[in-house]
Amino acid sequence: MAAKGRIPQYFIDDLLSRVDIVDVINRRVPLKKTGKNYSARCPFHEEKTPSFSVNPDKQFYYCFGCGAGGNAVGFIMDYERQDFPNAVENLAHIAGLEVPREDLSPQQQVKQERRKTIYDLMEQVSAYYQKQLRSDPQSQRAIDYLKRRGLSGRIARDFNIGFAPPGWDNLLKTFGDTDEHKQQLIDAGMLIEKEDGKLYDRFRDRIMFPIRDNRGRVIAFGGRVLGDDKPKYLNSPETDIFHKSKELYGLYQARQNNRHLEQLLVVEGYMDVVALAQHGIMTGIATLGTASNTEHLRTAFRYASELIFCFDGDAAGRKAAERALENALPVMEDGRRIRFLFLPEGDDPDSVVNRDGAAGFQKMLANATPLERYFFESLHDQTDPNTLEGKARLSKLALPNLQLLPNGVFRQLMLDSLAERTGLSRQSVDQLLNETPAAVSEDVVAAAPEQRRSSTLKLAAKLPGSRRDPLLFALAMLLFNPRGAATGPANIANLEDSPAAALLNNTIALLRKRPDSSTAMLLGHWYGQPEYEVMTEALKTIELLGAELNDEKAETAFFDTLAHLDAQRSTQTLRNHVDQLRISNEVDKPTSANYAELSEADKQQLLTIQQLLKQKHRL
Ligand code: GTP
Ligand code: MN
Repeated sequence: MAAKGRIPQYFIDDLLSRVDIVDVINRRVPLKKTGKNYSARCPFHEEKTPSFSVNPDKQFYYCFGCGAGGNAVGFIMDYERQDFPNAVENLAHIAGLEVPREDLSPQQQVKQERRKTIYDLMEQVSAYYQKQLRSDPQSQRAIDYLKRRGLSGRIARDFNIGFAPPGWDNLLKTFGDTDEHKQQLIDAGMLIEKEDGKLYDRFRDRIMFPIRDNRGRVIAFGGRVLGDDKPKYLNSPETDIFHKSKELYGLYQARQNNRHLEQLLVVEGYMDVVALAQHGIMTGIATLGTASNTEHLRTAFRYASELIFCFDGDAAGRKAAERALENALPVMEDGRRIRFLFLPEGDDPDSVVNRDGAAGFQKMLANATPLERYFFESLHDQTDPNTLEGKARLSKLALPNLQLLPNGVFRQLMLDSLAERTGLSRQSVDQLLNETPAAVSEDVVAAAPEQRRSSTLKLAAKLPGSRRDPLLFALAMLLFNPRGAATGPANIANLEDSPAAALLNNTIALLRKRPDSSTAMLLGHWYGQPEYEVMTEALKTIELLGAELNDEKAETAFFDTLAHLDAQRSTQTLRNHVDQLRISNEVDKPTSANYAELSEADKQQLLTIQQLLKQKHRL
């Protein structure tokens, strides 16, 4: 098609409100009325019984069989295999409307360009570091170092490992030719600006590990010294494209290597991931010097149903395991599995695999402790389950944590197990559970105001456990009743940092601008973008709730869930702060073992935060 300008949004909104999706689809796929909705055998996949339904009130279609879903424009695009402008033209023709066009503003164009080039820049920087590893006069030291650590040239290439040569301005000279490029390097965290305005390279004389996001784009670097200098590792700072607390090093490579991962190994360091890969174990992922949080685990579980945490066998490792356990409980939906591997004292996965080979490491993995056993055993360490008093204490310690588990079979089994271990009846356990507030609950409605809670709680309870992710739930409620959601004082400033949260935020922002948007209009806004997949997930939630859901309930549930997310987020912020304090001195291990090395001020701050967290929940 000739380069026409964009179709203005108002026109698409107008069009969607004029055509009837039932009419549009029925002309192509005959529909049958079934209750409130219409249904048919799905035109997008082979099926014998109809799982394709069209919702006339909200003007969308959704297929339970294949997950296809969208508004009238989307249907035309998929069914007639037309691009967006053509599908709009097609519908406009039916409605007897002329399609107007507009151009991107120059600012919009610049913004798009810029966003693209910061990723381009990072890719080029990564290529530069790789090239230096091959050809810099100083690089023999780096090559020797990597060899000494058992890495082959091939693995170094697979992980795009590079070398930042010594010197203050290598990157500056290579990429900072214009003011604009300099600014980009600063924005990307690659240059540091001194107080007098002078610029210098952040990474010098270090082995460089590029960190890739989910889509494989280089978003940051970790750099290791070649010797014993401190800090051992330097990471890129937080930037527009890099959010340390949600990225997992190695996840992209693991996915590239195997489309159907069954298991992922959560290890501590870059070198652990790479060393495992060197020995053919391509499933290692690592957080970037922080403890693994719930968001990390959610991300990892998107790609594999089993996670095995590998911890050092020392006190710091056990402490890290406690934290991991607590963060894992809320995401333990049925079908997911977590195990804990405690390595021998002084070992990490890198040292084990280099000494004992892949087979030796696999043998250890096979003996990893399932979450359920670890959970009760670590509690047994704190109480004597043979005394009456010990049993009481056991249930008291266990319940706030078990309360975190999503509803499902696993939760029931854990409660059974608690009953067995304490000698309490299941009934008494349930009774106690009802009286116990959750530690830091991820469940949809934990923080909802009391009087409203029961309505939202009932609604959420209609959904299978795996569909109670609060962000997705909030999004579904928003999508069902956009006008209701547009009216309230939604506090969205505090949402956690994730793709679903970004989508929720953007949809709320969109709604602020266009409070009259309908479900179909909101859907159309994300068509063809990566976010769209999440939108169809939200449609599924709506369809699962079926007649249970109405506008009023959706509105209430939306605000309840936002309130909950907000409370959850403020706790998480405090926790991240604790994590940061623990590594703020760039000490070797980012755990509380470094307490002694903290400055007085940091110690004081850490104490205050810990007290706050204890008051709020448990730490
Ligand atoms: P090697 O000593 O090369 O085997 O490194 P490792 O990957 O085994 O690292 P280690 O187990 O010591 O630490 C685990 C992770 O914590 C590292 O991969 C880094 O992400 C982070 N880390 C370790 N030391 C530092 C540090 O000095 N500063 C920062 N910011 N992070 C660190
Ligand atoms: Mn190591």
